[in-house]
Amino acid sequence: MLDKDRMPVHVAIIMDGNGRWAKKRNLPRVAGHNAGMKTMKKIVDHSDKLGIQYLTVYAFSTENWKRSIAEVTGIFKLLVTYVNSELQELIDNNVKVKVLGDYSSIPGDAKKSLEKTLEQTKDNTGLQFNIALNYGGRDEIRRAMRTIGEEIAQGKRRPEEITEELIGAYLFTGNQQANSPDPELVIRTSGEIRLSNFLLWQSAYSELVFTDVLWPDFTPEEYEKAICQYQSRQRRFGGR
Ligand code: IPE
Ligand code: IPE
Ligand code: MG
Repeated sequence: MLDKDRMPVHVAIIMDGNGRWAKKRNLPRVAGHNAGMKTMKKIVDHSDKLGIQYLTVYAFSTENWKRSIAEVTGIFKLLVTYVNSELQELIDNNVKVKVLGDYSSIPGDAKKSLEKTLEQTKDNTGLQFNIALNYGGRDEIRRAMRTIGEEIAQGKRRPEEITEELIGAYLFTGNQQANSPDPELVIRTSGEIRLSNFLLWQSAYSELVFTDVLWPDFTPEEYEKAICQYQSRQRRFGGR
């Protein structure tokens, strides 16, 4: 049973398995992404119900550009549809949307819809919904290093000032952007047991839960099962 008093503050999800879900049904991959969007909507709603404060989903990685143009275009089209059709509900539900990743290079209409959503939900105080888009953990750390390097070169900072807190502050989850704590729980669907460049810095001490369920088949019940698994773990953080 889920213990409502010990909910993770931040859950991060690698939404994987859309392609295999479609393949099993002889459908085009984009149909899998469409089904995946519907799951995402349900999980956002359910996170809100469970009182989770931050939900981060991995929607598109810096490596996903390697896929066919048709698939990439399809994914961003679905994102536009999702964002446009959900905006009012997100506002009504007091959800604050943030993006992790450099979204300057995504297709123009997706960027526009997203910016509108960020702007119109920025003062909301309920669930914070972070969408990792064109996100890569290494890319994020590289950007932080570069900014800090530039500040040192300009004499604004000394190398001794580089602390873990400073590095963390310059990541997409830092206080300039999504301002989110490290996730206590990272869930990956579809049976793959790897992080695929997701939240590398932030997940240093996260509990990892892997499930064979393909993302479009992931349900609020499966979600609660993953949280139960998290609650059954003993977290030690290197202590005894
Ligand atoms: C995850 O599903 C969604 C994205 C990476 C955008 P996949 O498209 O990776 O699905 P599989 O892994 O091929 O089944
Ligand atoms: C990770 O899934 C990225 C997202 C879910 C957006 P991938 O399907 O791209 O990861 P790999 O290629 O199996 O490692
Ligand atoms: Mg995949």
